Amino acid sequence: MLDFEIKSILGEKYKNGFFEKASSLSNILHKEGILVFNSFISPVGLIKIQKEAAILKPNSFKSSSEYNVYVSDYDDNFPPESPRNRIMSTTKKCIPNDLIPKGSILQKLYDSSYLKNFFCELLSKDNLYPYEDSLSSININYYDKGDALGWHFDNSDFTITLLVKNCIKGGIYEFFNDIRYKDGKEDYAFVERILNNEVYGTKVDSFEGDLMIFKGNKSIHQVTAVEEGERILVTFNYNEKMGVSLSEKSRKTFFGRI
Ligand SMILES: [Fe+2]
Repeated sequence: MLDFEIKSILGEKYKNGFFEKASSLSNILHKEGILVFNSFISPVGLIKIQKEAAILKPNSFKSSSEYNVYVSDYDDNFPPESPRNRIMSTTKKCIPNDLIPKGSILQKLYDSSYLKNFFCELLSKDNLYPYEDSLSSININYYDKGDALGWHFDNSDFTITLLVKNCIKGGIYEFFNDIRYKDGKEDYAFVERILNNEVYGTKVDSFEGDLMIFKGNKSIHQVTAVEEGERILVTFNYNEKMGVSLSEKSRKTFFGRI
């Protein structure tokens, strides 16, 4: 059963029976590469989470990272400007999990076995586990004016996010569903067209309180630069295996420590 406190901050539609529909939603996720649960958090719940996030922000770590869209090492078989090696960048601020109070709503949402079972069923996973390290399971990401997330494929095959605060202008999530491989090989030609702005992806209209699940390792995605206001996005990060830590390199980059 849904814990009373979690129920009290969920949007109307999610309070009764909704989570039993995982199997039909799973098909949509598989086909579309994305599921958006509009107003997953109620307006009252949202205010609480926004307050928590605002209090924590002064302690966030500001990072700038550069990578290629495959988030992997430089490949000498390709020139630097090729889609394989071209440099993308991300700037943001981040609060790692160990700075989020144990009693916070975000922590309760993350730990809820009811929600976790729902995610497992949606994603056809036997189980989902938190990160072994104390930093990586829940992250609060802050994007201020000029901050952006460059084009990339994720390493993990799914990502779960909660939009806590939306900016006024910019900060738009854009993706191309399931375009990564052609005839079983990386489709560099198509990625090149994306990076050259010759084709445009699906832009998602996101609203505060929306929970989003997407298949980021086959769907290239970006978030355009924030032009006005502040965007706060929480990521709930789970692993399929117990005892996995985020790499030291990634922890150093996004949290400034390991
Ligand atoms: Fe991503």
